[in-house]
Amino acid sequence: MAFGPTILAMSSCQSKNKSFAIIPSDKDDLILSEGLHYDVLLKWGDKINSHEAFGYNNDYTALTYLSKDRALLWVNHEYVHPLFVSGYTRETKRTKEQVTTELTACGGSIVEIKKNLNGTWSFVSDSKYNRRLTGLTKIPFAADKVVANKKFGIGTFGNCAGGVTPWGTILTCEENYDSFIGELSHEGEKSESRYGWEKYYPDHHPHHYGWVVEVNPRTGEAKKHTSIGRYAHECCTLAKAQDGRVVAYSGDDRKNEFIYKFVSNTKDSLDDGELFVADITNGKWLSLDINKSEVLKKNFKSQLEIQIHCRKAARLIGATPCDRPEDIEIHPSTGDVYIALTNNYSSRDLKNPKNNFFGKILKIIPDNGDHGSLSFKTADSLIGGEESGVACPDNLAFDKKGNLWVTTDMSGSMMNKVPYKKFKNNGLFYIPLAGKDAGKAFQVASAPKDAELTGITFSEDYKTLFMSVQHPGEKSRSLDALTSHWPEGKGNVPKPSVVQIQGELLDKLMS
Ligand code: FEO
Ligand code: CA
Ligand code: CA
Ligand code: CA
Repeated sequence: MAFGPTILAMSSCQSKNKSFAIIPSDKDDLILSEGLHYDVLLKWGDKINSHEAFGYNNDYTALTYLSKDRALLWVNHEYVHPLFVSGYTRETKRTKEQVTTELTACGGSIVEIKKNLNGTWSFVSDSKYNRRLTGLTKIPFAADKVVANKKFGIGTFGNCAGGVTPWGTILTCEENYDSFIGELSHEGEKSESRYGWEKYYPDHHPHHYGWVVEVNPRTGEAKKHTSIGRYAHECCTLAKAQDGRVVAYSGDDRKNEFIYKFVSNTKDSLDDGELFVADITNGKWLSLDINKSEVLKKNFKSQLEIQIHCRKAARLIGATPCDRPEDIEIHPSTGDVYIALTNNYSSRDLKNPKNNFFGKILKIIPDNGDHGSLSFKTADSLIGGEESGVACPDNLAFDKKGNLWVTTDMSGSMMNKVPYKKFKNNGLFYIPLAGKDAGKAFQVASAPKDAELTGITFSEDYKTLFMSVQHPGEKSRSLDALTSHWPEGKGNVPKPSVVQIQGELLDKLMS
């Protein structure tokens, strides 16, 4: 399906037959198009079993069906806002207990949900499946790999987006691990983290984070895959090569970092295979196999060392730097790989002409339609900016008709300010890729203050869209100066929550 870089005016959303589009809003509320409504399914702090609670800053969501009406919902908990979670502020001295509370609020939740007779979904509070993975859960490395002298890492955090495997497991991706635990470079230089957890948990080695973690939602068993590399993994999206092998796409969400592809040796495991990085200029996947590159052989002692320091290896072999690769989705009929490149600007130098404030959605079109192919073409799919009405695309999802759904992530410190003023709060957009409106973006949701909409997952019957509302009120300076009270309203602290969206408009948009 062809879908060029069509640029259309924001006002086109207001045409008579498309009156469902909302206008940007700066209200502290989750505002939806007419014909859609939502319920909060789970919010931060909700008890999910006798001893565990739903974590903070819910992000990626994924479903595993137990039957037509029962499913396990996986939810990432990416990071915490210390003011709300542990009470820590810059004016106070941090305690180990506070750090433990923060670690416990990150990771992921597995909860059972059931479909009611009226079609809505409810959380099953007494399900045997309800459990947490946290920043303190012991997780082994896959294929018995040893990283920094350990066969396991303690905990998972920075869990941003993810993926699902054909064999029924969930992939959760460790993104900004260095903000929590610091970094140890290939040259042996240590850098401190913003959260400072390493001071209280010195055994949390930086090399134990930044991986793709595979979780069995039925048992809670997890493993960290060194095979797919270590960097700020946004997501891990699987496809099938023509020869049946499983292929995983993932991006490194950091300015001027890269897009990767992992091709497994088998059809049913991510434990072993070959890692590639994209040379977008020449439309080639470059192998990160130590035995295929003299420059890698010269700079690294082992394949594992390359996997731990992917960024350095990718740069050495000439990969193409990107404008912060975020979510990746495969078009259900064309097989094209859609990648949100969210933005790339210097907040210290907002006048720099090289700044890319609005991002775009890039398409990688594998040669011969084969995800196993080592060459590809690219095309711009959607250009962010005032004309498209979309700024900073982040999470993507396709519906059953191949329409693209996109959430945006303008940063809290820049939202409602120049150059983002006109876009107001972050939103959810519906973009048909075929028909007369192909390429037009229609806003269908606006987030509460400071929040980002993320983790968009359709139910199997496409009657429900599950969505995370992440970091509402994150710019609050104190509990006396809250910027958001969503979802419980005035007098309450903001709470990241997963909502279910339903309504006749969902059907109409996919008809
Ligand atoms: Fe966690 Fe790149 O967003
Ligand atoms: Ca993201
Ligand atoms: Ca997605
Ligand atoms: Ca984000």
